[in-house]
Amino acid sequence: MNTVGLGDIEMTLEDRGVGRVMLFVHGFPLDHSMWQAQIDELSRDYRVLAPDLRGFGASPLGDGEVTMRRYADDLALLLNRLDIHEKIIFCGLSMGGYIAWQFWQKYAVRVAALVVCDTRAGADTPEARTGRAMLAARVLANGPRAAADAMLPKLFGPESEHSHPAAIAATRAVILRNSAAGIAAALEGMAKRPDVTDMLGGIAIPTLVVVGEHDAISPPAEMRGIADRIPGAEFILIPGAGHMSPLENPRDFNAALHRFLQRIDSGDLE
Ligand code: MLT
Repeated sequence: MNTVGLGDIEMTLEDRGVGRVMLFVHGFPLDHSMWQAQIDELSRDYRVLAPDLRGFGASPLGDGEVTMRRYADDLALLLNRLDIHEKIIFCGLSMGGYIAWQFWQKYAVRVAALVVCDTRAGADTPEARTGRAMLAARVLANGPRAAADAMLPKLFGPESEHSHPAAIAATRAVILRNSAAGIAAALEGMAKRPDVTDMLGGIAIPTLVVVGEHDAISPPAEMRGIADRIPGAEFILIPGAGHMSPLENPRDFNAALHRFLQRIDSGDLE
């Protein structure tokens, strides 16, 4: 793992491989390790960056408020600090997808292609905001266990309970290692995120929209709606997976990613 200074924090990241840069941005309340199967495979042909967002994994929370835009600003600064000025392939899952929209909005010139996984374009409903505030209060009072108990049943598909018990246990351990303050800050940031639905029609780069067939948080129909709005976007359903599609079915997820990347590399999508 490497660390890179971003002003108020040292950001920790996996930086592996050489070639075109792929940036993998994790979901809530996780860390970079959810991408292990992609890091291992894609780093054979690409330079893979998989950071821990501020307040997660080994990256401290730092000062001030967290918003999806701030996470995106961190990632742009990270690329600057690593002297990466070429266009990157941005791959984000769920909260990582919320950050992808913000990154695209502010730093479109830095993005060659988008991979948005198990995410949403709409803002939270008032009920969802209340739920997040209540969860943040529980996490601050009782620690990250409250987040693990609330999130784990929703993250994995029904088949994974039997087929991936080790992955579920490892994900629980990741959540428990995170700080209560980092989790609460992200909940507040997600509750404040804007609706970006109207922006989708303006995304003018190759985009892959991926969702697990049993995703209960960002259901396939909603993700198909996102793909339908992005000109030329490709929509892929990952069989047997829930919200954690890259982790629950890395074989099909990586195959879809490879096909998309090959089409970009062959100039088919540019
Ligand atoms: C995530 O996986 O990042 C979260 O489920 C996103 C959310 O709570 O909206």
